[in-house]
Amino acid sequence: MEKLPELFGNNRRWASSIKEKYPDFFTTLARQQSPDYLCIGCSDSRVPANEILGLLPGDLFVHRNVANLVIHSDMNCLSVIQYAVDVLRVKHIIVCGHYGCGGVIASLEEISHGLIDNWLRHIKDIHSYHQKELKEYNDRNSFINRLCELNVVRQVYNVCSTTIVQDAWARKQDITVHGWIYGIEDGLLRDLDVCITGKEDYLQRRM
Ligand code: CO
Repeated sequence: MEKLPELFGNNRRWASSIKEKYPDFFTTLARQQSPDYLCIGCSDSRVPANEILGLLPGDLFVHRNVANLVIHSDMNCLSVIQYAVDVLRVKHIIVCGHYGCGGVIASLEEISHGLIDNWLRHIKDIHSYHQKELKEYNDRNSFINRLCELNVVRQVYNVCSTTIVQDAWARKQDITVHGWIYGIEDGLLRDLDVCITGKEDYLQRRM
C-alpha cells in the first residue's frame, strides 16, 4: 500500500500531463541528461529551483542546502560542482539565494539552534567581514536582505575559487558563474551583477 497516497496521486497526474504535452519526454530523458545550468540554492520549500526558472526535468542540475552555502571543504557540494563541470559540462553555475532566508536570520540570533549553528557560522563570518557596510542598514528587514545578498556574492566567489572551476577556466572551458536572489514576496529573481566568466574577471572582482 502506498503511504502518503495524495502525493502518489499528484505524481501520476503530473506525469500524465507532461506526457500529454510531450509524448516522448520521459523516454528521451531516460537515455541521458544534458543540462546547461547548475543551480545552487537554499533548501527552503518556498524556493523550488526548476519552477521559479520555468525549467523542466533535464534542464537544470541542482544542489540545495541551508542558506545556499558553498563551503571550501564540503564534499557534497564540491562533488555536485565537479560532476556538473567535468561530466555534464554545464555552461552556467547560478548561486541563487533568497530574501528573508531563515538560515541568514538564524545566524544573527544569539540563541542556540544546535548542530546547524556550525553551518551558519559561515554567515556570521560574512556578517563580520561586512560589518561596516551593514551598520548603515537601520531597518531590520533591509539589513537581513542585504546580508542575504552579500551571502550570495560570497558564495559566487567560493564557486569561482574551487579547483574545479579554476581548472576548467585554465583549460578554456566556457563557464560563467552568476549570483541571483529570489523574492519570496513577489516570485521574482534579481541579478546581483556578479557575473564572472573567467580567471581574470575573478581576480579583479573577488572580495
Ligand atoms: Co533560505
